[in-house]
Amino acid sequence: MANQRAKLVVGNWKLHGRLADNRVLLQAVSSGADDLPDDVRVGVCVPCPYLAQAQTLLESGRVAWGVQDISAYTHGAYTGEVAAEMAAEFGASFAIVGHSERRAYHCESADLVAIKAERALEAGLTPIVCVGETLEEREAGKTEQIVGGQLDAVLARLSVESAARIVVAYEPVWAIGTGKSATAQQAQDVHAFLRARLAAKGDDVADVSLLYGGSVKPENAEELFSQPDIDGGLIGGASLKDKDFLAICGAAVAATAAR
Ligand code: 13P
Repeated sequence: MANQRAKLVVGNWKLHGRLADNRVLLQAVSSGADDLPDDVRVGVCVPCPYLAQAQTLLESGRVAWGVQDISAYTHGAYTGEVAAEMAAEFGASFAIVGHSERRAYHCESADLVAIKAERALEAGLTPIVCVGETLEEREAGKTEQIVGGQLDAVLARLSVESAARIVVAYEPVWAIGTGKSATAQQAQDVHAFLRARLAAKGDDVADVSLLYGGSVKPENAEELFSQPDIDGGLIGGASLKDKDFLAICGAAVAATAAR
């Protein structure tokens, strides 16, 4: 049966943006998003220096904003870190944690990601917990073992009440930035597995939003978002183009209307 969860589409700008370009993009996304129905939520996760700009340009609209990582610490001698509370002071709603690029390039462990999720929740942010397998792991038949382990580390650290407040993004590493999305069926299969894992934590946790990320484009978004356990997307490259990002938000509307 089709689910009744609201769709959520979040852009992850990664290491992109400059003040002048951001202004044009944020204004276009904000005004385009004004026309979307309430049951499709939209967010953008910007580089930290642009949080104030996002706040100024988005606070009167319906697009939420957030960051792409936060520190596992609240304060102290941790040069270069940004605390969840700092992001919250700029009105952030979301913090991506455990993106595969951070796991790979910054050696973030499953336990560290779990602590970051906890810090985000303490500061009133919604952690978007990313999980995903590499191509090698998929081909070795280890997808469930990998994504299950990544999710379990976070769930083990959180109470049922806290776990019910997270968002999970399934992002197969082999689909990120490659133009080669998972098929809707491949993504749905993993989402159904993750949903069962969430439900095992508690009834309220079963309805956590499960986003798909990895080469989502206007052309494939509706089919992905129409799957029973896919509640929206975490969008990289296409979130840097207002028309593409808004078309993906439109696909979330169409997928909602079709259910
Ligand atoms: P792409 O949409 O560019 O594949 O990136 C996905 C992603 O990593 C979002 O967090």
